[in-house]
Amino acid sequence: MVNLISRACGKISPLSIKEYKNNGGFKGLEKALFNMTPKEVIDEVTKSSLRGRGGAAFPTGLKWKFVAMEEKDEKYIICNADEGEPGTFKDKILLDGCPFQVIEGMIIGAYAIGATKGYIYIRGEYPKSKEILVKALNILREEGILGNNIIGQNFSFDIEVRSGAGAYVCGEETALIESIEGNPGRSRFKPPYPPNKGLWGKPTLVNNVETLANIPIIMELGADEYKNYGTDSSAGTKLISVSGSVVNKGVYEIEFGTSLKEIIYDVCGGIEENKKIKFVQLGGSSGACLPEELLDTKLDFDELSKLNIGLGSGAILVVDDSICIPDFVKNTTKFFDHESCGKCTPCREGNRHIIKILNKFTEGEATERDLELIKEISNVMKEASLCGLGQAAPTALITTIKYFKEEYEDHINGSCEVGKCKMKKGVAANA
Ligand SMILES: Cc1cc2nc3c(=O)[nH]c(=O)nc-3n(C[C@H](O)[C@H](O)[C@H](O)COP(=O)(O)O)c2cc1C
Repeated sequence: MVNLISRACGKISPLSIKEYKNNGGFKGLEKALFNMTPKEVIDEVTKSSLRGRGGAAFPTGLKWKFVAMEEKDEKYIICNADEGEPGTFKDKILLDGCPFQVIEGMIIGAYAIGATKGYIYIRGEYPKSKEILVKALNILREEGILGNNIIGQNFSFDIEVRSGAGAYVCGEETALIESIEGNPGRSRFKPPYPPNKGLWGKPTLVNNVETLANIPIIMELGADEYKNYGTDSSAGTKLISVSGSVVNKGVYEIEFGTSLKEIIYDVCGGIEENKKIKFVQLGGSSGACLPEELLDTKLDFDELSKLNIGLGSGAILVVDDSICIPDFVKNTTKFFDHESCGKCTPCREGNRHIIKILNKFTEGEATERDLELIKEISNVMKEASLCGLGQAAPTALITTIKYFKEEYEDHINGSCEVGKCKMKKGVAANA
Protein backbone atom coordinates (compact mmCIF):
# COMPACT_ATOMS: atom_id res chain seq x y z
CA MET A 1 0.00 0.00 0.00
CA VAL A 2 1.13 3.56 -0.64
CA ASN A 3 -0.04 7.01 0.27
CA LEU A 4 0.64 9.11 -2.77
CA ILE A 5 -2.56 10.67 -3.99
CA SER A 6 -4.43 9.76 -0.79
CA ARG A 7 -1.68 11.17 1.41
CA ALA A 8 -3.89 13.83 3.00
CA CYS A 9 -7.09 11.76 3.26
CA GLY A 10 -7.92 11.06 6.87
CA LYS A 11 -4.87 13.01 8.04
CA ILE A 12 -6.05 16.57 7.58
CA SER A 13 -9.25 18.32 8.29
CA PRO A 14 -10.82 18.32 4.80
CA LEU A 15 -11.76 22.00 4.80
CA SER A 16 -8.61 23.39 6.37
CA ILE A 17 -6.54 25.26 3.79
CA LYS A 18 -3.74 25.58 6.33
CA GLU A 19 -3.50 21.83 6.88
CA TYR A 20 -3.79 21.17 3.16
CA LYS A 21 -0.91 23.57 2.48
CA ASN A 22 1.19 21.98 5.24
CA ASN A 23 0.67 18.66 3.41
CA GLY A 24 2.05 20.01 0.13
CA GLY A 25 -1.25 21.48 -1.08
CA PHE A 26 -1.18 24.09 -3.88
CA LYS A 27 2.53 23.54 -4.59
CA GLY A 28 1.53 21.98 -7.92
CA LEU A 29 -0.81 24.87 -8.75
CA GLU A 30 1.83 27.48 -7.89
CA LYS A 31 4.43 25.69 -9.97
CA ALA A 32 2.06 25.49 -12.93
CA LEU A 33 0.77 29.06 -12.78
CA PHE A 34 4.02 30.82 -11.80
CA ASN A 35 6.59 28.85 -13.79
CA MET A 36 4.96 26.94 -16.62
CA THR A 37 3.09 27.69 -19.83
CA PRO A 38 -0.14 25.75 -20.49
CA LYS A 39 1.74 23.70 -23.08
CA GLU A 40 4.45 22.82 -20.58
CA VAL A 41 1.79 21.65 -18.11
CA ILE A 42 0.26 19.38 -20.77
CA ASP A 43 3.70 18.07 -21.72
CA GLU A 44 4.41 17.20 -18.08
CA VAL A 45 1.08 15.37 -17.71
CA THR A 46 1.78 13.53 -20.97
CA LYS A 47 5.26 12.59 -19.76
CA SER A 48 3.81 11.22 -16.51
CA SER A 49 1.92 8.59 -18.58
CA LEU A 50 -1.16 9.19 -16.44
CA ARG A 51 -4.19 7.37 -17.79
CA GLY A 52 -7.79 8.14 -16.89
CA ARG A 53 -9.01 6.49 -13.71
CA GLY A 54 -12.72 6.66 -14.64
CA GLY A 55 -12.72 3.34 -16.48
CA ALA A 56 -11.59 3.85 -20.06
CA ALA A 57 -7.91 4.46 -19.17
CA PHE A 58 -7.45 7.02 -21.94
CA PRO A 59 -4.07 8.85 -21.79
CA THR A 60 -4.81 12.06 -19.87
CA GLY A 61 -2.12 14.25 -21.48
CA LEU A 62 -3.39 13.38 -24.95
CA LYS A 63 -6.98 14.24 -24.02
CA TRP A 64 -5.83 17.57 -22.59
CA LYS A 65 -3.92 18.26 -25.81
CA PHE A 66 -7.03 17.61 -27.93
CA VAL A 67 -9.01 20.21 -25.95
CA ALA A 68 -6.13 22.70 -25.88
CA MET A 69 -5.80 22.47 -29.68
CA GLU A 70 -9.40 23.69 -30.17
CA GLU A 71 -9.44 27.41 -30.81
CA LYS A 72 -12.64 28.51 -29.09
CA ASP A 73 -13.38 31.36 -26.68
CA GLU A 74 -15.20 29.09 -24.31
CA LYS A 75 -14.06 25.69 -23.10
CA TYR A 76 -15.15 23.64 -20.14
CA ILE A 77 -13.66 21.17 -17.72
CA ILE A 78 -15.90 18.67 -15.98
CA CYS A 79 -14.98 16.58 -12.98
CA ASN A 80 -16.85 13.30 -13.24
CA ALA A 81 -17.87 12.48 -9.67
CA ASP A 82 -20.83 10.31 -10.62
CA GLU A 83 -19.20 7.17 -9.22
CA GLY A 84 -22.08 4.93 -10.20
CA GLU A 85 -20.25 1.69 -10.93
CA PRO A 86 -21.43 -0.90 -8.39
CA GLY A 87 -18.76 -1.70 -5.83
CA THR A 88 -16.90 1.54 -6.48
CA PHE A 89 -16.51 4.02 -3.62
CA LYS A 90 -13.00 5.39 -4.05
CA ASP A 91 -13.81 8.86 -5.44
CA LYS A 92 -15.83 9.52 -2.31
CA ILE A 93 -12.70 9.08 -0.20
CA LEU A 94 -10.97 11.84 -2.17
CA LEU A 95 -14.00 14.14 -2.30
CA ASP A 96 -14.67 13.86 1.43
CA GLY A 97 -11.08 13.53 2.62
CA CYS A 98 -9.32 16.08 0.48
CA PRO A 99 -11.64 18.11 -1.79
CA PHE A 100 -8.99 20.82 -2.31
CA GLN A 101 -6.75 18.31 -4.11
CA VAL A 102 -9.44 17.42 -6.66
CA ILE A 103 -10.26 21.09 -7.18
CA GLU A 104 -6.55 21.96 -7.48
CA GLY A 105 -6.31 19.35 -10.24
CA MET A 106 -9.26 20.97 -11.99
CA ILE A 107 -7.74 24.46 -11.79
CA ILE A 108 -4.45 23.20 -13.24
CA GLY A 109 -6.40 21.38 -15.98
CA ALA A 110 -8.43 24.52 -16.77
CA TYR A 111 -5.23 26.57 -17.04
CA ALA A 112 -3.68 23.97 -19.34
CA ILE A 113 -6.59 23.72 -21.78
CA GLY A 114 -7.81 27.34 -21.54
CA ALA A 115 -11.14 26.75 -19.77
CA THR A 116 -12.90 29.51 -17.89
CA LYS A 117 -15.65 27.45 -16.34
CA GLY A 118 -15.77 24.08 -14.66
CA TYR A 119 -18.43 21.74 -13.34
CA ILE A 120 -18.27 19.01 -10.77
CA TYR A 121 -20.99 16.48 -11.57
CA ILE A 122 -21.61 14.58 -8.39
CA ARG A 123 -24.03 11.73 -7.90
CA GLY A 124 -27.21 12.59 -6.01
CA GLU A 125 -26.51 9.75 -3.58
CA TYR A 126 -23.54 11.70 -2.15
CA PRO A 127 -25.31 14.68 -0.51
CA LYS A 128 -22.70 15.05 2.26
CA SER A 129 -19.86 15.06 -0.26
CA LYS A 130 -21.70 17.73 -2.23
CA GLU A 131 -22.00 19.86 0.90
CA ILE A 132 -18.26 19.53 1.53
CA LEU A 133 -17.48 20.47 -2.08
CA VAL A 134 -19.66 23.57 -2.01
CA LYS A 135 -17.97 24.70 1.20
CA ALA A 136 -14.52 23.98 -0.25
CA LEU A 137 -15.28 26.05 -3.36
CA ASN A 138 -16.47 28.98 -1.23
CA ILE A 139 -13.31 28.84 0.87
CA LEU A 140 -11.15 28.85 -2.26
CA ARG A 141 -13.02 31.86 -3.67
CA GLU A 142 -12.42 33.77 -0.42
CA GLU A 143 -8.73 32.84 -0.58
CA GLY A 144 -8.33 34.03 -4.19
CA ILE A 145 -7.58 30.49 -5.38
CA LEU A 146 -10.75 30.38 -7.45
CA GLY A 147 -12.49 33.16 -9.37
CA ASN A 148 -10.80 36.17 -10.93
CA ASN A 149 -7.00 36.33 -11.21
CA ILE A 150 -6.26 33.10 -9.40
CA ILE A 151 -3.29 33.46 -6.99
CA GLY A 152 -2.69 36.90 -8.48
CA GLN A 153 -2.12 35.55 -11.98
CA ASN A 154 -3.78 36.56 -15.21
CA PHE A 155 -6.03 33.50 -15.15
CA SER A 156 -9.67 33.38 -14.08
CA PHE A 157 -11.75 30.28 -13.59
CA ASP A 158 -14.69 29.18 -11.48
CA ILE A 159 -16.52 25.94 -10.73
CA GLU A 160 -20.18 25.02 -10.26
CA VAL A 161 -21.46 21.85 -8.63
CA ARG A 162 -24.24 19.87 -10.35
CA SER A 163 -25.98 16.77 -9.01
CA GLY A 164 -27.09 13.66 -10.80
CA ALA A 165 -30.40 12.05 -9.95
CA GLY A 166 -29.25 8.47 -9.59
CA ALA A 167 -28.85 7.26 -13.18
CA TYR A 168 -25.81 5.04 -13.77
CA VAL A 169 -25.63 6.07 -17.42
CA CYS A 170 -25.03 9.69 -16.38
CA GLY A 171 -21.46 8.68 -15.49
CA GLU A 172 -20.88 8.16 -19.22
CA GLU A 173 -19.35 11.44 -20.31
CA THR A 174 -21.81 12.41 -23.07
CA ALA A 175 -24.88 11.41 -21.00
CA LEU A 176 -23.36 13.46 -18.18
CA ILE A 177 -23.06 16.45 -20.51
CA GLU A 178 -26.69 16.03 -21.61
CA SER A 179 -27.69 15.96 -17.94
CA ILE A 180 -25.80 19.19 -17.14
CA GLU A 181 -27.51 20.79 -20.14
CA GLY A 182 -30.85 19.89 -18.57
CA ASN A 183 -31.74 17.04 -20.93
CA PRO A 184 -32.53 13.41 -20.11
CA GLY A 185 -29.28 11.53 -19.46
CA ARG A 186 -28.75 9.57 -22.67
CA SER A 187 -25.43 8.98 -24.39
CA ARG A 188 -24.65 10.88 -27.59
CA PHE A 189 -23.40 9.37 -30.82
CA LYS A 190 -19.61 9.70 -31.04
CA PRO A 191 -17.86 11.33 -32.87
CA PRO A 192 -17.86 14.22 -32.19
CA TYR A 193 -16.10 13.57 -28.90
CA PRO A 194 -16.33 16.01 -25.97
CA PRO A 195 -12.82 17.46 -26.54
CA ASN A 196 -14.13 18.77 -29.89
CA LYS A 197 -17.80 19.32 -29.15
CA GLY A 198 -18.98 18.78 -25.61
CA LEU A 199 -20.95 20.89 -23.15
CA TRP A 200 -23.11 23.50 -24.92
CA GLY A 201 -21.32 22.41 -28.12
CA LYS A 202 -17.94 23.70 -26.83
CA PRO A 203 -14.67 21.83 -26.36
CA THR A 204 -14.90 20.00 -23.06
CA LEU A 205 -12.49 18.04 -20.94
CA VAL A 206 -14.10 15.33 -18.81
CA ASN A 207 -11.90 13.72 -16.19
CA ASN A 208 -12.57 11.43 -13.28
CA VAL A 209 -12.08 12.60 -9.67
CA GLU A 210 -9.09 10.33 -9.11
CA THR A 211 -7.45 11.37 -12.40
CA LEU A 212 -7.70 15.00 -11.32
CA ALA A 213 -6.39 14.22 -7.83
CA ASN A 214 -3.21 12.90 -9.48
CA ILE A 215 -2.49 16.21 -11.21
CA PRO A 216 -1.26 18.31 -8.25
CA ILE A 217 1.05 15.44 -7.26
CA ILE A 218 2.47 15.11 -10.79
CA MET A 219 3.06 18.87 -10.92
CA GLU A 220 4.68 18.92 -7.49
CA LEU A 221 6.94 15.86 -7.95
CA GLY A 222 7.54 16.18 -11.68
CA ALA A 223 6.70 13.41 -14.14
CA ASP A 224 9.99 11.55 -13.65
CA GLU A 225 9.61 11.13 -9.91
CA TYR A 226 5.92 10.29 -10.30
CA LYS A 227 6.86 7.46 -12.66
CA ASN A 228 8.92 5.82 -9.91
CA TYR A 229 5.55 4.54 -8.75
CA GLY A 230 3.96 1.69 -10.70
CA THR A 231 5.33 -0.22 -13.68
CA ASP A 232 6.81 0.72 -17.06
CA SER A 233 3.46 0.39 -18.79
CA SER A 234 1.28 1.70 -15.95
CA ALA A 235 2.65 4.65 -14.04
CA GLY A 236 1.50 5.72 -10.61
CA THR A 237 -0.96 4.28 -8.19
CA LYS A 238 -4.59 3.22 -8.18
CA LEU A 239 -7.30 3.57 -5.60
CA ILE A 240 -9.12 0.27 -5.37
CA SER A 241 -12.46 -0.39 -3.68
CA VAL A 242 -12.51 -3.93 -2.34
CA SER A 243 -15.71 -5.64 -1.24
CA GLY A 244 -17.19 -9.14 -0.95
CA SER A 245 -15.75 -12.02 1.01
CA VAL A 246 -12.47 -10.46 2.17
CA VAL A 247 -11.73 -9.79 5.83
CA ASN A 248 -10.89 -6.10 5.48
CA LYS A 249 -13.12 -4.46 2.89
CA GLY A 250 -12.38 -0.87 1.97
CA VAL A 251 -10.51 1.59 -0.22
CA TYR A 252 -6.76 1.17 -0.60
CA GLU A 253 -4.11 2.91 -2.65
CA ILE A 254 -1.81 0.44 -4.35
CA GLU A 255 0.99 0.78 -6.89
CA PHE A 256 0.30 -0.51 -10.37
CA GLY A 257 1.93 -3.92 -10.67
CA THR A 258 0.38 -5.29 -7.46
CA SER A 259 -1.29 -8.67 -8.04
CA LEU A 260 -4.86 -9.57 -7.16
CA LYS A 261 -3.49 -12.20 -4.77
CA GLU A 262 -1.40 -9.59 -2.93
CA ILE A 263 -4.43 -7.33 -2.69
CA ILE A 264 -6.68 -10.06 -1.31
CA TYR A 265 -4.25 -11.66 1.12
CA ASP A 266 -1.67 -9.00 2.07
CA VAL A 267 -3.78 -5.84 1.84
CA CYS A 268 -7.25 -7.12 2.74
CA GLY A 269 -6.31 -9.82 5.24
CA GLY A 270 -7.50 -12.80 3.18
CA ILE A 271 -10.87 -14.48 2.84
CA GLU A 272 -13.58 -14.50 5.47
CA GLU A 273 -13.67 -17.56 7.66
CA ASN A 274 -14.77 -20.90 6.18
CA LYS A 275 -15.05 -19.47 2.68
CA LYS A 276 -13.27 -20.28 -0.54
CA ILE A 277 -12.78 -17.88 -3.44
CA LYS A 278 -14.79 -18.71 -6.53
CA PHE A 279 -13.90 -15.68 -8.64
CA VAL A 280 -12.94 -12.04 -8.51
CA GLN A 281 -14.87 -9.44 -10.47
CA LEU A 282 -12.56 -6.65 -11.51
CA GLY A 283 -13.85 -3.19 -12.41
CA GLY A 284 -17.36 -3.28 -10.98
CA SER A 285 -20.46 -4.94 -12.38
CA SER A 286 -19.29 -4.16 -15.91
CA GLY A 287 -16.00 -5.95 -15.25
CA ALA A 288 -14.60 -9.39 -15.97
CA CYS A 289 -14.93 -12.37 -13.61
CA LEU A 290 -11.57 -14.05 -13.10
CA PRO A 291 -11.16 -17.53 -11.57
CA GLU A 292 -8.82 -18.26 -8.66
CA GLU A 293 -6.15 -19.58 -11.07
CA LEU A 294 -5.71 -16.03 -12.38
CA LEU A 295 -5.15 -14.33 -9.04
CA ASP A 296 -1.47 -13.81 -9.84
CA THR A 297 -2.60 -11.31 -12.49
CA LYS A 298 -1.09 -7.93 -11.80
CA LEU A 299 -3.01 -4.67 -11.98
CA ASP A 300 -1.16 -3.33 -14.96
CA PHE A 301 -2.77 -2.11 -18.17
CA ASP A 302 -0.55 -4.25 -20.43
CA GLU A 303 -0.97 -7.41 -18.39
CA LEU A 304 -4.75 -6.99 -18.24
CA SER A 305 -5.01 -6.29 -21.95
CA LYS A 306 -3.26 -9.63 -22.61
CA LEU A 307 -6.28 -11.23 -20.91
CA ASN A 308 -8.50 -8.97 -22.99
CA ILE A 309 -9.92 -7.24 -19.92
CA GLY A 310 -9.77 -3.76 -18.42
CA LEU A 311 -9.23 -2.36 -14.96
CA GLY A 312 -12.41 -0.28 -15.10
CA SER A 313 -12.99 1.80 -12.01
CA GLY A 314 -10.65 -0.38 -9.94
CA ALA A 315 -13.44 -2.05 -7.98
CA ILE A 316 -12.62 -5.56 -6.80
CA LEU A 317 -15.44 -7.85 -5.73
CA VAL A 318 -14.28 -11.10 -4.16
CA VAL A 319 -16.93 -13.76 -4.60
CA ASP A 320 -16.96 -16.98 -2.58
CA ASP A 321 -18.13 -20.45 -3.56
CA SER A 322 -21.60 -20.06 -2.03
CA ILE A 323 -22.57 -18.10 -5.15
CA CYS A 324 -24.21 -19.68 -8.20
CA ILE A 325 -22.80 -18.22 -11.41
CA PRO A 326 -25.96 -17.98 -13.59
CA ASP A 327 -27.81 -16.49 -10.60
CA PHE A 328 -25.02 -13.93 -9.99
CA VAL A 329 -24.89 -12.92 -13.65
CA LYS A 330 -28.69 -12.64 -13.76
CA ASN A 331 -28.58 -10.15 -10.88
CA THR A 332 -25.82 -8.17 -12.57
CA THR A 333 -27.79 -8.08 -15.81
CA LYS A 334 -30.89 -6.90 -13.95
CA PHE A 335 -28.89 -3.87 -12.85
CA PHE A 336 -27.93 -3.02 -16.45
CA ASP A 337 -31.47 -3.64 -17.67
CA HIS A 338 -32.76 -1.21 -15.07
CA GLU A 339 -30.09 1.38 -15.90
CA SER A 340 -30.19 1.12 -19.70
CA CYS A 341 -31.31 4.50 -21.04
CA GLY A 342 -33.21 2.76 -23.86
CA LYS A 343 -31.76 4.85 -26.68
CA CYS A 344 -30.13 1.96 -28.54
CA THR A 345 -31.72 -1.39 -29.30
CA PRO A 346 -28.86 -3.79 -28.43
CA CYS A 347 -28.66 -2.54 -24.86
CA ARG A 348 -32.39 -1.95 -24.33
CA GLU A 349 -33.44 -5.37 -25.67
CA GLY A 350 -30.25 -7.36 -25.07
CA ASN A 351 -30.21 -7.11 -21.28
CA ARG A 352 -33.89 -8.00 -21.13
CA HIS A 353 -33.42 -11.11 -23.25
CA ILE A 354 -30.35 -12.26 -21.36
CA ILE A 355 -32.34 -12.10 -18.09
CA LYS A 356 -35.13 -14.18 -19.65
CA ILE A 357 -32.65 -16.82 -20.77
CA LEU A 358 -30.74 -16.83 -17.48
CA ASN A 359 -34.07 -17.37 -15.75
CA LYS A 360 -34.35 -20.58 -17.74
CA PHE A 361 -30.95 -21.61 -16.36
CA THR A 362 -31.94 -20.98 -12.74
CA GLU A 363 -35.36 -22.60 -13.25
CA GLY A 364 -33.85 -25.77 -14.72
CA GLU A 365 -35.31 -25.19 -18.19
CA ALA A 366 -32.25 -24.13 -20.21
CA THR A 367 -30.97 -25.98 -23.29
CA GLU A 368 -27.65 -26.00 -25.20
CA ARG A 369 -29.29 -23.62 -27.68
CA ASP A 370 -29.88 -21.11 -24.83
CA LEU A 371 -26.17 -21.08 -24.06
CA GLU A 372 -25.41 -20.33 -27.72
CA LEU A 373 -28.11 -17.68 -27.80
CA ILE A 374 -26.83 -15.70 -24.79
CA LYS A 375 -23.36 -15.76 -26.35
CA GLU A 376 -24.76 -14.36 -29.61
CA ILE A 377 -26.76 -11.65 -27.84
CA SER A 378 -23.71 -10.71 -25.76
CA ASN A 379 -21.59 -10.30 -28.88
CA VAL A 380 -24.18 -8.09 -30.55
CA MET A 381 -24.41 -5.92 -27.44
CA LYS A 382 -20.65 -5.64 -27.18
CA GLU A 383 -20.23 -4.70 -30.83
CA ALA A 384 -23.32 -2.64 -31.53
CA SER A 385 -24.39 -0.79 -28.37
CA LEU A 386 -24.18 2.98 -28.51
CA CYS A 387 -22.17 3.46 -25.33
CA GLY A 388 -20.08 1.63 -22.80
CA LEU A 389 -23.11 0.67 -20.73
CA GLY A 390 -24.45 -1.79 -23.29
CA GLN A 391 -20.98 -2.69 -24.57
CA ALA A 392 -19.76 -3.74 -21.13
CA ALA A 393 -23.03 -5.09 -19.68
CA PRO A 394 -22.41 -8.67 -20.89
CA THR A 395 -18.78 -8.79 -19.67
CA ALA A 396 -19.63 -10.85 -16.57
CA LEU A 397 -21.63 -13.23 -18.75
CA ILE A 398 -18.93 -13.56 -21.40
CA THR A 399 -16.12 -14.13 -18.89
CA THR A 400 -18.07 -16.58 -16.74
CA ILE A 401 -18.95 -18.60 -19.85
CA LYS A 402 -15.23 -18.54 -20.69
CA TYR A 403 -13.98 -19.60 -17.25
CA PHE A 404 -16.98 -21.45 -15.73
CA LYS A 405 -18.71 -23.00 -18.74
CA GLU A 406 -19.25 -26.26 -16.89
CA GLU A 407 -21.47 -24.50 -14.37
CA TYR A 408 -23.80 -23.34 -17.17
CA GLU A 409 -23.72 -26.87 -18.57
CA ASP A 410 -24.55 -28.32 -15.14
CA HIS A 411 -27.62 -26.10 -15.08
CA ILE A 412 -28.62 -27.34 -18.53
CA ASN A 413 -28.29 -30.84 -17.10
CA GLY A 414 -30.49 -29.90 -14.15
CA SER A 415 -27.99 -29.36 -11.35
CA CYS A 416 -26.77 -26.31 -9.46
CA GLU A 417 -23.44 -26.72 -7.68
CA VAL A 418 -24.43 -24.52 -4.76
CA GLY A 419 -28.12 -25.32 -4.61
CA LYS A 420 -29.33 -21.78 -5.23
CA CYS A 421 -31.59 -22.63 -8.13
CA LYS A 422 -34.72 -24.71 -8.52
CA MET A 423 -32.65 -27.85 -9.05
CA LYS A 424 -31.38 -29.98 -6.18
CA LYS A 425 -27.84 -29.25 -5.07
CA GLY A 426 -25.32 -31.01 -7.29
CA VAL A 427 -27.90 -33.47 -8.62
CA ALA A 428 -29.60 -33.38 -11.97
CA ALA A 429 -33.30 -32.79 -11.33
CA ASN A 430 -34.29 -35.18 -14.07
CA ALA A 431 -31.81 -37.86 -12.94
C1 LIG B 1 -22.14 3.59 -18.29
C2 LIG B 1 -20.89 4.34 -17.94
C3 LIG B 1 -20.74 4.87 -16.68
C4 LIG B 1 -19.61 5.60 -16.35
N1 LIG B 1 -19.49 6.09 -15.09
C5 LIG B 1 -18.41 6.82 -14.76
C6 LIG B 1 -18.29 7.39 -13.47
O1 LIG B 1 -19.16 7.22 -12.60
N2 LIG B 1 -17.18 8.13 -13.20
C7 LIG B 1 -16.20 8.33 -14.14
O2 LIG B 1 -15.23 9.04 -13.88
N3 LIG B 1 -16.28 7.80 -15.37
C8 LIG B 1 -17.36 7.07 -15.71
N4 LIG B 1 -17.46 6.56 -16.97
C9 LIG B 1 -16.39 6.86 -17.94
C10 LIG B 1 -16.62 8.24 -18.57
O3 LIG B 1 -17.44 8.11 -19.72
C11 LIG B 1 -15.29 8.89 -19.00
O4 LIG B 1 -14.57 7.98 -19.78
C12 LIG B 1 -14.44 9.36 -17.83
O5 LIG B 1 -15.14 10.21 -16.96
C13 LIG B 1 -13.24 10.11 -18.39
O6 LIG B 1 -12.38 10.47 -17.35
P1 LIG B 1 -10.90 9.88 -17.24
O7 LIG B 1 -10.26 10.02 -18.61
O8 LIG B 1 -10.25 10.73 -16.22
O9 LIG B 1 -11.04 8.46 -16.83
C14 LIG B 1 -18.58 5.79 -17.31
C15 LIG B 1 -18.73 5.24 -18.59
C16 LIG B 1 -19.85 4.50 -18.89
C17 LIG B 1 -19.96 3.92 -20.25
